[in-house]
Amino acid sequence: MNNPALAPAPDSAIDYDRYDHVRPIRWTGQALELLDQRVLPFTVVHEVCRTSDEVAEAIAALVVRGAPAIGIAAAWGVVLAAAGIDTDDPVEAAQQLEPALQRLNAARPTAVNLAWALARMRRVLASAGADWRDALAREAHAIETEDLAANRAMGRAGAALIAPGSGVLTHCNTGSLATAGFGTALGVIRAGVAQGRIARVFATETRPWNQGARLTVWELQQDGIPATLIADAAAAHLMKTGQVQWLVVGADRICANGDTANKIGTYQLAIAARHHGVKVMVVAPSSTVDMATAHGDAIEIEQRDPAELLSFRGQRVVAPGVSAWNPVFDVTPHTLIDAIVTEHGVIERPDAVRMQALAAYTNRC
Ligand code: MRU
Repeated sequence: MNNPALAPAPDSAIDYDRYDHVRPIRWTGQALELLDQRVLPFTVVHEVCRTSDEVAEAIAALVVRGAPAIGIAAAWGVVLAAAGIDTDDPVEAAQQLEPALQRLNAARPTAVNLAWALARMRRVLASAGADWRDALAREAHAIETEDLAANRAMGRAGAALIAPGSGVLTHCNTGSLATAGFGTALGVIRAGVAQGRIARVFATETRPWNQGARLTVWELQQDGIPATLIADAAAAHLMKTGQVQWLVVGADRICANGDTANKIGTYQLAIAARHHGVKVMVVAPSSTVDMATAHGDAIEIEQRDPAELLSFRGQRVVAPGVSAWNPVFDVTPHTLIDAIVTEHGVIERPDAVRMQALAAYTNRC
């Protein structure tokens, strides 16, 4: 692992205020306001959650989405659940909160950030005193602010790998909407554009939810970063034409050997990238690293309702009686990944040994 000095791109080189205009999650003190990502970009409306179960439902329904963002939302969900518990005793509170934590955890299975955030909330509760409610709120706030800082650090570290004048392709949405702000893969793209390293940005539409078409190019448009949308099926042809040098994607779970779960389609993009000499960069905070899962075959892949494929904007587009298979994530083997970027630095050609070094470094931080 080459660490983190992240020196090639000092903060001063990146005007963060120019980027990063939207926030998916807003804690009001009494409620959690979630920007409804199902209806963007044409409708900007917030869903107000007043209970942890409402947060769990919003995560399952993709009102809020993206691995880091669902972890942050779940942490605030625990704070909402705490408001309904009437005891000063943190041990009793932990017992009473557990069902709500489990319902939050079950909202989506693949992104480990959800379980990671809930584990942090449990740990805080275990060491808190009578002020356990404030301790939980402080922890949720810390999870959110640490994610923003991690994204900015990853933006600098990832961009440093990209040679000036490069083209990049990204998949799904990994921007402000998917995180506390700035984004993971999209943060690298923002930093790379700011530094003049990235000359061309392409985004896949990312069927069936169209996170690329509805969210990513919308975010980039607000930044004033020109981006070109492509059909998912156009990616290999794009690579063949030499317009992109890097595939830059996020992650929902990175295993102990570097295998990486991300939005469905990432695996075939990585195969096409290897075939065409396009490098593959995975950008994710350490909250996405799951050292307890040895390899990608052990990751639970979320299957969603086939209706998401059979219809478009609520309108059935496939003949009646046709069935569909709708896994929404896939696993890219570590052998297809050139670099994993976390807030702790860059791992090139990830494998179990290098991931272990990252874990040891992360545990020391
Ligand atoms: O189903 P989604 O929209 O939650 O899937 C999101 C992704 O796959 C992202 O690439 C991943 O969560 C990283 S977001 C920084």
